[in-house]
Amino acid sequence: MHKKSEQEAYWRLTAKLPDHPPLSESRETDVVVVGGGIAGITTAYLLCQKGVRVTVVEASEIVSGTTGHTTAKITAQHGAIYDELLHHFGLEGARSFYEKNQQAIDWIRNTVSQKQWECDFETQDAWIYADSEATIQQLEKEQHAYDKLDIPYKHASKLPFDIHCDGALIMPNQAQFHPTRYISAMVEEIVEMGGKLHEQTKAVDIQEGQEIQVTMENGHVLTCQHVVVASHFPFYDGMGLYFAKMKPERSYLMAGHWKEKDPGGMYISIDQTVRSIRFFSMDGSRGILVGGEPHSTGQGEPTDHHFDVLQKFTSTHLGKVDFTYRWSSQDYTTLDKLPYIGAISNRHPRILVATGFRKWGMTQGTMAAHLISERILGTSTPSSDLFDPSRFHADPALKKVISINSDVVKHFVKSKLEIPVITLKQLPLGAGAHVNWNGQQIGAYKDESGNVHAVDTTCTHLGCSVNWNSSEKSWDCPCHGSRFTIKGEILEGPAMKPLEVIKTDGCEG
Ligand code: FES
Repeated sequence: MHKKSEQEAYWRLTAKLPDHPPLSESRETDVVVVGGGIAGITTAYLLCQKGVRVTVVEASEIVSGTTGHTTAKITAQHGAIYDELLHHFGLEGARSFYEKNQQAIDWIRNTVSQKQWECDFETQDAWIYADSEATIQQLEKEQHAYDKLDIPYKHASKLPFDIHCDGALIMPNQAQFHPTRYISAMVEEIVEMGGKLHEQTKAVDIQEGQEIQVTMENGHVLTCQHVVVASHFPFYDGMGLYFAKMKPERSYLMAGHWKEKDPGGMYISIDQTVRSIRFFSMDGSRGILVGGEPHSTGQGEPTDHHFDVLQKFTSTHLGKVDFTYRWSSQDYTTLDKLPYIGAISNRHPRILVATGFRKWGMTQGTMAAHLISERILGTSTPSSDLFDPSRFHADPALKKVISINSDVVKHFVKSKLEIPVITLKQLPLGAGAHVNWNGQQIGAYKDESGNVHAVDTTCTHLGCSVNWNSSEKSWDCPCHGSRFTIKGEILEGPAMKPLEVIKTDGCEG
């Protein structure tokens, strides 16, 4: 069972979805959707509208994953991406990516309006801005790509606040919303249409014969014709080698009340540190959301540092904000930055996957739901091949990423052999670290009362050594992004087994 992280997002704390019971029997259905985020729930919604029998299973709670921890922007802008897409996929591919995302925005806008879902939906312009010599060149290339692709835009030379700006590109008529309220309204309709949802129901295996069987951790089996794996990192690999072709990153978000005039717009810098700023409806007034500081999972500075940097950035450039919410999020980037949407591998055409949305899951997840439901309904168009997860057969980039992954594995397995200098006895209250316990390296967290929670730091996915995340009090794997609680329970995949618990029995070594 997946557990909640210690820090929770504004979206999760300000909307409550009804509980859905765990699966308590084996049965037949047409389609099993694994994962209760925006991609899975929207797929279920679209299929239920066509009379398909759908069962959604979620290992934790609906919207407990990345959908509940997003910046909640609905946009086709996705940072400065179109120049790169133009080079990799040509005019047709890059244009198709833009159109599919724009269609997803329009679909959300129309659905919310027609159904009158109360989810704080607002139309906003999306801005990318350059703040240095290096990024202005990137911005110019991006503008050139917009011209070639006929993407509507405006240019600006400054931002409406005190941040250095060498130029900005504005994509008009994009949007933002409250993702949990949006999903809550959608789930209500799924239930009305006869769809079934089961929380605390972890899928652990898929067997494909004439029919497909999805087995849950509690032993119950769903028999179906199609499976949609929308579990963020695919819980089932199907020989698709997803761990080797996606890179996990964590990033940070803070939200608080905004007392100044709201200038409107959603802003993101195109430098490596990434600063994302936007304003939103917060508890009946306006709020500000500031995010950024992406880094590879399990690597880099202690996580508190990233919040400190964002706080300092805000007070320097935007004024004093009392951030009452802060949280982090994990996202996966694919080799070519396009998501993987389609058959999980060529061997399994009825097992479909939707993953690798980078940080743009609200739009790409909705786009994925349309492409996958069309495929199941037999109404796909050839443009969906652009996102085929098996598109890298002859691409040298795949070799590169496998080699990067091997280096990471070697490095961290090696680090396991180094005995830490700090002993369990020396570990302060409220802290976690790799410690020396009786000459052996273990991972330990000592709570404020002095109770020790110790684990074997060998990641149960492929054996890398997990690192302590001081802000979220978790053990994070630097290789493929698995995360574990202080008790070793899984927070994020691809690991399917918890870390081994070590009983120290009061002995501090
Ligand atoms: Fe792959 Fe840890 S070794 S996630």
